[in-house]
Amino acid sequence: MLRTLWIGLLAGLIQTAAAAADAIYQDPDTGLVFSSNFQLYKSDGRGITFRVAIPDGVQSYTAYDAVIQMVVPNDVGWAGLAWGGSMPKNPILVAWRGSSNNVVLSSRWATGHVMPTDYSGATYTLFKSAGTKSNATHWQFTALCKGCTAWDAGSGSMRYLSPRGGNRLAFAYSPSKPASVNSPSSSLPIHDVHGYWTHDFSGAANAGFDAAVSRLTA
Ligand code: HEM
Ligand SMILES: *[C@@H]1O[C@H](CO)[C@@H](O)[C@H](O)[C@H]1NC(C)=O
Repeated sequence: MLRTLWIGLLAGLIQTAAAAADAIYQDPDTGLVFSSNFQLYKSDGRGITFRVAIPDGVQSYTAYDAVIQMVVPNDVGWAGLAWGGSMPKNPILVAWRGSSNNVVLSSRWATGHVMPTDYSGATYTLFKSAGTKSNATHWQFTALCKGCTAWDAGSGSMRYLSPRGGNRLAFAYSPSKPASVNSPSSSLPIHDVHGYWTHDFSGAANAGFDAAVSRLTA
């Protein structure tokens, strides 16, 4: 009896977790479809939403563009996304707000568990006309990334994100802002929290991706 109850509870929990993961988000602002995951950084329920949109019809083991959208509570100092699911040797995006509450996006690479430095292999273009905004509780941005779905992890060993399946991503959170708040190359204070999830890219495909992106980055 008790055992059945526990199994039932467990199944329920697993279902809840599955349902919470990879929501499909139709973004009214950009018109893009995103696959979306919410990651807690505080036990009181505060978290960062990570959304990814990609073109449809992408072949596996190729480099393709991706759009990243993040929704971030205002108490976050910086938020990081590691496209390869760990800190070292993959494209890292670090985002924070500058002195006029503008979004600063910084493309980084870490050789180990040391401060990531500027990385020119991935470039981000902020969407200014739609998808980037803030209010009393949150800020969000949307940006095109070139170079986030394929990279050389060292000694020519290429890593590719699957356009049709789950990819392990990682995030990090710091309550403190970077020292030079208006410089993308600023030194960063270390994170308080990091975490991982599997992001399903199969729900992120967009027909007409390139046309939408060129309109949104114009
Ligand atoms: C000043 C900047 C940073 C420093 C000094 C730093 C340092 C470290 C250290 C020492 C660890 C090991 C912690 C442990 O073993 O418990 C770690 C882990 C980690 N860091 Fe950072 N970090 C920095 C920035 C970042 C950024 C921007 C990200 C972006 C997502 C990130 C993501 C992670 C992740 C996911 C882990 C878990 C271990 C792994 O998957 O490699 N870190 N970091
Ligand atoms: C504040 O902005 C965030 C990010 O755009 C959004 O998710 C949230 O619903 C907004 N809250 C209100 C009360 O409008």
